[in-house]
Amino acid sequence: MKNILVVGSTGQIGSELTMKLRREIPQSTVVAGYIPGAEPKGELLESGPSAIADVRDAAGLAEIVTRYKIDTIYNLAALLSAVAERKPLLAWDIQMNGLLNILEIAREKGVAVFTPSSIGSFGPETPHVGTPQDTIQRPRSMYGVTKVATELLSDYYFHKYGVDTRSVRFPGLISYTTLPGGGTTDYAVEVYYSAVKGEEFTCPIAPGTYMDMMYMPDALHAAMMLMEADPSRLKHRNSFNIASMSFEPEQIFAKIREYIPSLQVRYEVDPVRQAIATSWPDSMDDSCAREEWDWKPTFDMDSMTVDMIKNLRLKLGIQ
Ligand code: SER
Repeated sequence: MKNILVVGSTGQIGSELTMKLRREIPQSTVVAGYIPGAEPKGELLESGPSAIADVRDAAGLAEIVTRYKIDTIYNLAALLSAVAERKPLLAWDIQMNGLLNILEIAREKGVAVFTPSSIGSFGPETPHVGTPQDTIQRPRSMYGVTKVATELLSDYYFHKYGVDTRSVRFPGLISYTTLPGGGTTDYAVEVYYSAVKGEEFTCPIAPGTYMDMMYMPDALHAAMMLMEADPSRLKHRNSFNIASMSFEPEQIFAKIREYIPSLQVRYEVDPVRQAIATSWPDSMDDSCAREEWDWKPTFDMDSMTVDMIKNLRLKLGIQ
């Protein structure tokens, strides 16, 4: 029996992770945590319990953890990088004060916690090609600052109190279910929508800017796999580099044009996102994740593109 709380269950990752957990651990109770204004709908609402879970409300969180005898929390509440630059204090409040609330409850009640980090935890001085697991992390965005602090705080609670904290550094995530909200890597999702709809795409990231990216099924698999991993094999905890593909805008556009040759693109580079993107790795080395918990991705750029186009056509009702 597992009793799991997904905080941020209606977001880009949470909406798919909650359903996958419910499907793949059928004997579990998976509570879809949400904030007012982002209520679960449809299958997410109907397939299991849901509860208001605002990371800034410690008493409310503790009540859910007690009521459902929660043993694992996937803490997916976060403002993405470009939004966090506009609202740095709110990003700090959600990502740091919120995390502390979760870790304190985890310490008191013996709960395991997954709080993702990101390629955003790296900065301009980080080696950009084959970015090692353990390297310089001096990000200059508020998103990055909170992600480095998330890694440190999560490790602190493990070493000091024995809280079972584990996490990965997600690349930019590409999916067709729920749109990301205000990240630097969002262009790689939005271009698929434009391509399928037959609309011109305006790209905010300059050609030649490489970033790690990953298809959502691999990202979800990584999170669940790490939380199930044998702890005696883990030399690292917070957080593991994971990688599957790295590309710059022209490469993903060329790949999409193999299937939708009419895709039109123009560039209108956003200086905020571009500065963030330039400071992030071009490609991460994920050998520690491969060694310590057998991480291996399934999708590459081609298989992802075929699947994205097929599913977006179905979703948007476009042939
Ligand atoms: N996708 C995130 C962003 O662009 C990075 O983890 O903000």
